[in-house]
Amino acid sequence: MPEKALTSPIRCAIVGYGPTFNFGWVHARWIEAVPDLKLVAICDRDPSCLAKAQSDWPSVDAHLDLREMLQRDDIDLVSVVTQHNTHAAIVIECLNAGKQVVVEKPMCLNTAEATAMIDAAQAAGRSLSVFHNRRRDGNVRAIREVIEQGRLGRVFHIEVSACGYGKPGAAWRSSKEVCGGALYDWGAHAIDWVLSLVPSRMTQVTGFFHKLLWPDVSNEEQTRAIILFEDGTVGEIMQSSLAMVGKPLWRILGTKGAIEDSGAGAIEGYCREIIGPSIGSFRLVTEEGETQVPYKESDWVTHYADLADHLLRGAPAPVSAEDGRRVISVLETAERSARSGRSETPPYV
Ligand SMILES: NC(=O)c1ccc[n+]([C@@H]2O[C@H](COP(=O)([O-])OP(=O)(O)OC[C@H]3O[C@@H](n4cnc5c(N)ncnc54)[C@H](O)[C@@H]3O)[C@@H](O)[C@H]2O)c1
Repeated sequence: MPEKALTSPIRCAIVGYGPTFNFGWVHARWIEAVPDLKLVAICDRDPSCLAKAQSDWPSVDAHLDLREMLQRDDIDLVSVVTQHNTHAAIVIECLNAGKQVVVEKPMCLNTAEATAMIDAAQAAGRSLSVFHNRRRDGNVRAIREVIEQGRLGRVFHIEVSACGYGKPGAAWRSSKEVCGGALYDWGAHAIDWVLSLVPSRMTQVTGFFHKLLWPDVSNEEQTRAIILFEDGTVGEIMQSSLAMVGKPLWRILGTKGAIEDSGAGAIEGYCREIIGPSIGSFRLVTEEGETQVPYKESDWVTHYADLADHLLRGAPAPVSAEDGRRVISVLETAERSARSGRSETPPYV
């Protein structure tokens, strides 16, 4: 719970209004959709991105310089929507300036950075949370419901895979230095899904990383992390751009049932409508037979509504900084394991 007393509407700023997924714009849409939040400023160090922000949001102040924006005392909350290797420094600067902060996934590049960010939040008495919005994907919400209803019995194996074949693009997401590695982008969501579905601590992480084909891409081409939990559950996350034969996005095994899900359509329309229509379903096989379970809505905007509840009324943060650090702990430990050739113990379990 932040120490600073806030009143509604919370005055919000966004750092990062880049063109890749228009995600600064998407954050702005979500903020504006929540009555307890009000967008007052956008910062991007690239003048062309800032010009786009000015044209999209003419009544919102635009800043090229983060430090200058942070000097304003009419900003309560900053959303950090920048490249992965910039998260730690920007977040700490915002916290030191007295702002509440929500940072895009992955929280940062390693657990040392994550701990420094958490320490900065504690020292400043401010809230830090991580934007793992994709816990609210329509298929993930429906999968969670089926597991919580006990229809799979005791879940002991969860696989999440994104496989394809093709040279990763040249933008920063293929650069290990900027992105963190092939598992840091989509893989951060997948690891968060698995950690949030398994009610147990981790004991070991094993990583298998392959860098085999494209010399001008510094990220690995295939990464695989296998997590062993204290209760015996195994989670496996795979991201491959070297797989000419793929796997389903989700494959979950329990003692009384199983789920197979392609994920097709799960987040359809999220930008256009903010709340995406659910247009898919997954396969549920139990002793009673086989059925298709429809996806729920992808309600990503609820992440911001819950964040407002947290800041104004003391509700838990939608995804805590400690949860964000657990994801980073898996990413970091998978790479350590891939190097050592052994299973390794994650520093945060
Ligand atoms: N949660 C999701 O579903 C989801 C989807 C897409 C992107 N993301 C995340 O959003 C983040 C941004 O990704 P993107 O695709 O929008 O990147 P992008 O490259 O399109 O945009 C990043 C912007 O940040 C700006 N920037 C960087 N450092 C800055 C600084 N110090 N001051 C001001 N501006 C600065 C850059 O100029 C750039 O315009 C990443 O963490 C990414 O993983 C999350």
